[in-house]
Amino acid sequence: MSTYSEYKGRFYYLLHPRLTIILATLCPNGRINLMPASWNTPVSEDPPTVGVAVDKESYTRECLEYFGEATINVPSSEQANLVYSLGTISGREVDKVKVYNVGFVDSKMVKVPGIDGSLAIMEGKVIDKLEIGDVVFYVFHVVRAIYRDGVANEYGYNFAAANVLLHGSGKVFYKVDPKKIWARKI
Ligand SMILES: Cc1cc2nc3c(=O)[nH]c(=O)nc-3n(C[C@H](O)[C@H](O)[C@H](O)COP(=O)(O)O)c2cc1C
Repeated sequence: MSTYSEYKGRFYYLLHPRLTIILATLCPNGRINLMPASWNTPVSEDPPTVGVAVDKESYTRECLEYFGEATINVPSSEQANLVYSLGTISGREVDKVKVYNVGFVDSKMVKVPGIDGSLAIMEGKVIDKLEIGDVVFYVFHVVRAIYRDGVANEYGYNFAAANVLLHGSGKVFYKVDPKKIWARKI
């Protein structure tokens, strides 16, 4: 039998690394704001939904209350510096789009644009939310999903072409090892 010890770190690190997304929102100050979020998950397939845990203190929370739409952008592993930077300052203080020279692609179903260069972009509308402690868990109805040409097929990402960004802890990120593990029935 294996032996176990009480974990002394933050419990959730045992559930990391996690695929990081960048939430783009429209804010009361008229700007688009960008917030990386690794606490995100698909919720239901029908309707297509994605949930994101958003810190109550973040400007993004204020923006989502102001305008309940967002784009959910999947950055590439090459954007680690941008992602980390976006997650260490608040849109309350700075215009992150300007400071980091972020380009956009037009959305079709929501007002908020997607982030140019993302591996994938989902357009989402808030359909539900749940307040839990220090976060609000927003549930987005995904009304459109697009991917960057060449980086994915119907089974997901083509890691030979591009890699996703998995958040470990703090400044540490990982990529997916493209070597496949094929399961067989036992
Ligand atoms: C890789 C990474 C992942 C993060 N994940 C989340 C998350 O899932 N939820 C959250 O509320 N904040 C998360 N943060 C912190 C926010 O991005 C950070 O507080 C940000 O400055 C909030 O920006 P805003 O005030 O402009 O909304 C993350 C930060 C980083 C760097």
